[in-house]
Formats: sequence, structure tokens, C-alpha cells
Amino acid sequence: MFKYLKKYWFWCLLAPLFMVGEIMMDLMQPDLMKTIVDEGVIGKNMDIIISVGLRMILLVFLGAASGILCGVFANMGAQRFGNDLRKDVFKRIMNLSFQQTDKFSTGSLVTRLSNDVTQVQNTVNMAMRFAVRSLFMFVGGIIMLYRQSPTFMLITACGLPIVAFFVIFFSRKAAPLFKIVQERLDSLNNVMQEDVAGARVVKAYVKEDYEMKRFDKANQDLVEISLKVFTRLAFMGPILNIVLNTCIICIIVVGGITVQNNGDLTTGEIMASLTYVSMILFGVMAVSNIFQMIPRVGASITRINEVLYSNEVVKNGEITETKENNGKIEFRNVSFAYPNSSGQNVLEDIDLVVNPGETLAILGSTGSGKSSLVNLIPRFYDTKSGDVYVDGVNVKDYNLKALRSKIAIVLQKAELYSRPIEANIRFGKDNADPLTIKKAASIAQADDFICDTNDGYFTFVTEGGHSLSGGQKQRISISRAVIKDAEILIFDDSTSALDLKTEARLYKALNETYPDLTKIIIAQRIASVRNADRIAVLENGRISACAPHDELMETSEVYRDIYYSQLKDDSIIDEEA
Ligand SMILES: Nc1ncnc2c1ncn2[C@@H]1O[C@H](COP(=O)(O)OP(=O)(O)OP(=O)(O)O)[C@@H](O)[C@H]1O
Ligand SMILES: [Mg+2]
Repeated sequence: MFKYLKKYWFWCLLAPLFMVGEIMMDLMQPDLMKTIVDEGVIGKNMDIIISVGLRMILLVFLGAASGILCGVFANMGAQRFGNDLRKDVFKRIMNLSFQQTDKFSTGSLVTRLSNDVTQVQNTVNMAMRFAVRSLFMFVGGIIMLYRQSPTFMLITACGLPIVAFFVIFFSRKAAPLFKIVQERLDSLNNVMQEDVAGARVVKAYVKEDYEMKRFDKANQDLVEISLKVFTRLAFMGPILNIVLNTCIICIIVVGGITVQNNGDLTTGEIMASLTYVSMILFGVMAVSNIFQMIPRVGASITRINEVLYSNEVVKNGEITETKENNGKIEFRNVSFAYPNSSGQNVLEDIDLVVNPGETLAILGSTGSGKSSLVNLIPRFYDTKSGDVYVDGVNVKDYNLKALRSKIAIVLQKAELYSRPIEANIRFGKDNADPLTIKKAASIAQADDFICDTNDGYFTFVTEGGHSLSGGQKQRISISRAVIKDAEILIFDDSTSALDLKTEARLYKALNETYPDLTKIIIAQRIASVRNADRIAVLENGRISACAPHDELMETSEVYRDIYYSQLKDDSIIDEEA
């Protein structure tokens, strides 16, 4: 965290300096008050009342100006510190592997990025302002009180260990709970995230009450633990008050007796001493507040560091350029298991070569490992054993950006962003001009429906693409991949919502425009893939056959079964043929 603060050392230095200025003014006030009371009021000297009074007012203004400057500088430092930290955490989140995102959970990442960073930022702000203030109030108060009366200082010194004991006692009791508070906040955010994003499903299944209960439970858990923490901390204020008032009473009693016995104490000195006692004890209280913040901010720093310094699970390689750039893909004896699952292999002994410019289809029942297989090509996950090669280079040796720039993948779940259609397509190629965007949309068979909308390419897509139909979403996702101009194009069940005619037109346009592109097409329907150069049949994570359609009809029983079952279902194959 210090590396983020170091950059703003200037503000971090100025803010406490001005705070020292403010506190100096505060410390001088009671001494002047003593003079005004003893020499001005009791001594009936109007000149002293006016001159000292004016000095007091001047000091108030100087103190206020210092306080304002301290606040401004502290905020300048803290806000910029928070901004840098937030940016870095966000950057790291963007670079987390799929495995890490699954592990942290979306809700927790959002809490870390928002709540935890704000917590640290606020603490930095408070530390610059109040750490110095409380320290100077405490030390300055002791010196000034001692100057007024060593006896009063002795009385106050008796109260200090009591306050210190309770501060440490309650802070230590509350400290371990802060981590739990943040964890429960994570859980609450997870529920909110899921329910807000999945509000349509909740409504469709009339699960509002059920989800409300889930939310209530998460909320209740958070309230419970927060109450526990703050109940423990709530003791501190009243205890301080008891000690403060006891000290005040003792000082008044001792002071009163001394004055009555014609001792060397004046009324003004007693009044000034009372103010200094309050300063000392409030200084202790402010220190205790900082003590309270330490475990809280400690928990937040740990959670931020877990993200910032998480090991790179998918380590970036060095290679940015390759000799061949033809889109050849090779799986050599690949096995794969999801890192967070029971360890059972999802893919087993995959040996497969996809030649440059070839169209390879992957067919297989649901859960057979089709998505898992293609996710290994852009290295969303690493293999458990064996290797994947793109353009003759092991994907693990690639710089991830270089590898992923060779591949355009349309994921199984079409994700769109809340921005106009043209911006969603341009996501695939930043500098694409309107004509290129239109061309990509035409290949994806999206141009017609886009032109039919009121705002055409500037039609705004609502969050997650809810304003579009399933097939429209898929076609915009395909446009986004097509425009990327990559060597390899992967469709993960990306045309499932299209009717067969539109799908056939799409493949035709794609093959005509990009005949040299290596294409991998995952599909459930044989009609979608029968024209592919080869079709790989995936069964329980193994490739049981891989050949063109006609050959598979002769050699693969599984393929034949799928073919006839789909033929029976409807006339899709006739229609496509
Ligand atoms: N992120 C994940 N973590 C753990 N297991 C997963 C994950 N994603 C998929 N799996 C498991 O891996 C297996 C293969 O899943 P995969 O998504 O590759 O199947 P698929 O062939 O694409 O299925 P579908 O046709 O339904 O899309 C399944 O048993 C699934 O439960
Ligand atoms: Mg899949």
C-alpha cells in the first residue's frame, strides 16, 4: 500500500503539517482564556479583555484556515491514492484467469473493488487528519496541563491507564470480527448480484419470496455480525466519559480546596486545566478510534492484496510473433480437469490436428466437453497434461494477448454490453469503420434486422443484451468475432437460436469471404455441421471419431444414431440439404 502513498508524499506531508497548525491554535486558546479570566474579568481590566479577546479570535480564524487546508490536502492525497489503487485492482481483476474469477466469486470481487478500496482510502484520509491531531492533542495537552498544574497532571495521569486498558481490550475483541463483516458483505453482494442479474428467471419461476428470504438471511447475517462489532466498540465512548468526568470532578475538588486555602491557583488556571484534561482524554479517544480502524482496514488491505498479488495461474509467455500464421491447431495427448472440481478429467487423451483453413465441427452430447475443449485454445484454462499448439507454438509459450489476437471466439453464452449495436460489434476491432462493421454484420446475417430497427446501428442494447432476441444476440456476437479478422474462428454453439436457412446463409457468406480461416464449429444439430471438412464426435471427453460426414455415416455408430434421431425429430436434414 505504501507504494501507492509514496507517489503523493507531498500531500501526505502538507496535510498533517496544517493539522499541526490547527492544533497549535487550539492549544493556545485555554492559556489565553486563563489570562482573560484572571487578569481581565477578575482583575477588571478592559484593555486585557479586548486585546486577549482579539488574539483569541485571530487564533480561531488561523486554526480554521489550517483545518480547511489540511482537509483539502488530505483529500487530494487520499482520493488520488484511492483512484490509483482502484485502477490497479480493476486491472488485476480484468487479468484474472477464469479459474480465479470462479474462486473469488463476482460478489466478492465487487466488494473488494468498491467497499474495501474505499475503506482503505478513508483510513488514509483520516490518518492524515486525525492521527496527527490526536497525537498532538494528547502530547500538547499534557505539556500545557503540566505547565498549569503538576497536581492536575497527576490526577489525569491516573485516569489514562484505565482508558488505555479499555481501548486495547475492546479493540482486540472487535478486531477478528472485521474480517467476518467483510466476508458477509461478500455473501450479500453475491446474492444481490445473482438476483439483480437473474431477475427475469426469478420472476419466471415466481421465486421472489424465496429469493427475498435468501437476501434477508444474508442481510441478517451481516447485521448480526456488525451489531456484535459495534456493541463491543460502543463501550469505549461512555467509559471515556466516566473517566473524563471523574478527572474533572477531582480537579474541581482539588482546585477548590487549593483556592480556599489561598494556594497558588487561580480560577482561570482551573478553567484552562479543565479544557486541557478534555483535550488529553479526547486525544486518547481519537487514538482509540484509530486503533479501531486498524483491524478494519487491515482486513480490507488483506482482501485487496489477495487480488493484487494473486499468483498468475495462467502465466504469460514470451512469444509475440510466430513463423507461421495460418491458424493451425494441434492437441497433443491433452487431458483436462477443472481446477476447482473433484479432479475428474473432463477431457481425456485428445489428439487432434485442425489444419489451416479447415472447418472442423465438434458434435457431442451435452456435457461431453465441447466447450472445455475449445476453451483450451485461447488458454482460458491450462491443460492438466499434454499440450495445445497454435501455429506450431505451444499456447503456454505465447504472450496471452498475441495468442488471443489470433483467435476470434463466440462463446456459448452471448454476452453483450450496454452500448449501441455498432459499438458492440466494434468491440472486436477498435478502429473499424462503419462500412467494415456493416460488412461483418452482413456476413453474420445481422444487417437486415439491424437496419429494420429505428436507430439502425445506433440502437442501444440494454444491459446483457436483454433488448434483443436470442438469435439477434447470437448474430451480433458473431459479427463481433468476424470483424476481428483473426486466423481462427471458433463458434461455441453460437447459431443454436438461428433457423436453419439463416444459419446456412451465414456459413455460406463466411466461407466465401474468409476461405482461408480455420474454423471450429460446435453444434448440436447435424444439419449445422454436415458440410464441415471433418466432424469430431466427442463422447465423455474423448474423441470417438473424426472424419467427414459421409465417412462417419459409415464408420461411426454414435454419429449414425445422432443422425437418425435428429432425422426422426423433424425434417431439418432434408431442409438443409
Ligand atoms: N467452470 C467449470 N468448473 C467446473 N466444472 C465445469 C466447468 N465448466 C464445465 N464444467 C464441467 O465440465 C464438463 C464438460 O462441460 P462442457 O461445458 O465442456 O460441456 P459441453 O459439451 O460444452 O456441454 P453443452 O453442450 O451443454 O454446452 C461438464 O461435466 C461440466 O459440468
Ligand atoms: Mg458447451
